[in-house]
Formats: sequence, C-alpha cells, structure tokens
Amino acid sequence: MASHPIGVFDSGYGGLTILSEIRRALPQYDYIYLGDNARSPYGTRSFDVIKDFTRQAVEYLFAQGCPLVILACNTASAKALRVIQQTYLPYSSDPTRRVLGVIRPTVEVVGDMTRSRKIGVLATPGTVASQSYTLELGKLFPDLEVYEQACPMFVPLVEYGESQGAGADYFVDKYTRALLAQDAEIDTILLACTHYPLLRDKIEAALPRHIRLIAQGDLVASSLADYLIRHPEMETRLSRGEEVRFLTTECPDKFGDLASIFIDTQVAAQRVKID
Ligand code: DGL
Repeated sequence: MASHPIGVFDSGYGGLTILSEIRRALPQYDYIYLGDNARSPYGTRSFDVIKDFTRQAVEYLFAQGCPLVILACNTASAKALRVIQQTYLPYSSDPTRRVLGVIRPTVEVVGDMTRSRKIGVLATPGTVASQSYTLELGKLFPDLEVYEQACPMFVPLVEYGESQGAGADYFVDKYTRALLAQDAEIDTILLACTHYPLLRDKIEAALPRHIRLIAQGDLVASSLADYLIRHPEMETRLSRGEEVRFLTTECPDKFGDLASIFIDTQVAAQRVKID
C-alpha cells in the first residue's frame, strides 16, 4: 500500500510536543513531521508571510502523500488555517484532503474548565495579535471573558536551552503578572504555544495555587482521534505502518540536536526545500 501519512507541520521544533501526544493516542498511523526551521520563529512575523509559508508547507505535505495535515503550530493555525481551508482548499471540491489546526480542539474543551468564566491565554505575539482564541472561545462560550498575554521571550528561552534558568524565572514572572493584572479572577490559563509546556513547572510555580494550567497536546490528540472516528472516509485512506519521518528546512544535524529539547527520542531528519 502506498504511504499516506498524517502530516504534522510546525514552524520549527515546538510541534514535536504535539506530535508526541498524537502518536501516543494514535500510534498505528504513519506520520511526517515538517519543521520550517529555516524560517522560524513565525510568532513575530506578519499575517501574509505566515499565510504564504504555511500554504507552502501544506502543499509540500500533500505532495508527499499526506491526505490529512495538522497545523501543530498556534501561530500558523491562528493566521493561516482559515484562509487555507476557505480559499485554497474549499471543502466541497476536494473531500480527500483536509487541514486541521490546534486552536479549535483546544477551545472546545477549555471553555468548560473555568468556574470564574475568566480565562487567560499565554501565546506568541502573532497569535495574540490575531485574537483567534478570544474570537473562537467567544463563538462557543459567549459568557467567557478571555484575556491574552503575548510572551515573546518564551520561544527563544526554550530554544536556547534556558527554560530552567534564571532568565526564564524573570520572564515567567513578568508575563504571568501582566496576565493576572488584566483580571485577578482568571482561574484557568491556556498554554497556547507549542513551546510553553517546557516552561510549565515555572509557570505553575509563579501562579496562585487555585489557577489551572492547560497544555494543549493531549487535547489536540484526542480531538484528532475523535475526528477520525467521525470521518471513516479519511481514516481508511491513512497508512498504518507506525513510521515517522522528520523533515526540516534547516540543517538536519541542528534539527536533531535541538529536537532533543522537545522529545526524548533520537531524531534523524532530512532537509527539504518547500518554497
Ligand atoms: N510553534 C509556534 C506556536 O505554537 C511557536 C514558535 C514560533 O513562533 O514559530 O505559536
């Protein structure tokens, strides 16, 4: 049988945290992970640029035989998913190809987790500027108040191996204070960026004990499992070899080294050109 893997795309390494959760829930399928490391981070880039880069990545993964692509990147999901789904991939014209993001599956679940009905979102400047979480949560849970806080230093801290250092303490304190200053009754905070689970312990320690911190990897994984049950026409197209290939637009050795920050398996990546 020809290989029809699930494509998992991220701007760089962070989507590896999402891939791990997806593979834990759905180990039977084949996967291709694509990191656009040569052009990351996306979090500080403009709308049009992210849209173009993400579209190139999706086209590349389709050309590799992936019928289903997951944008495992909040910034790409926030800024490019809708336009890709609506203009580039109109659902009616090509039912054999789908692109899903990480925002909707997260939003569907977190709205029920808050008692105070006040949710905080920590994310990249790009995701915050898009207001995607506020808009999507508002559609499903109109009574919620959503407060977003951009954390531009979190991604570099993680990628430079400083997530356990004193610099991380400083910025965790700064951003969590800024978020809670928006409303002290926030009782649920969403880590709306692929990298932030690596700062989870520090963020948790900086917050009052009653505040619940939510990472999205397992939410995305269980939503995908549910999607495949509801869409047998897609599920039966996927190949089941339990294989995973790692592709990067940067140097493969560098990818392998830094990937070890995000997952505990050795990664042998291959360099590809997607533009
Ligand atoms: N993967 C991105 C996200 O989840 C973070 C890294 C970046 O800014 O490219 O928003």
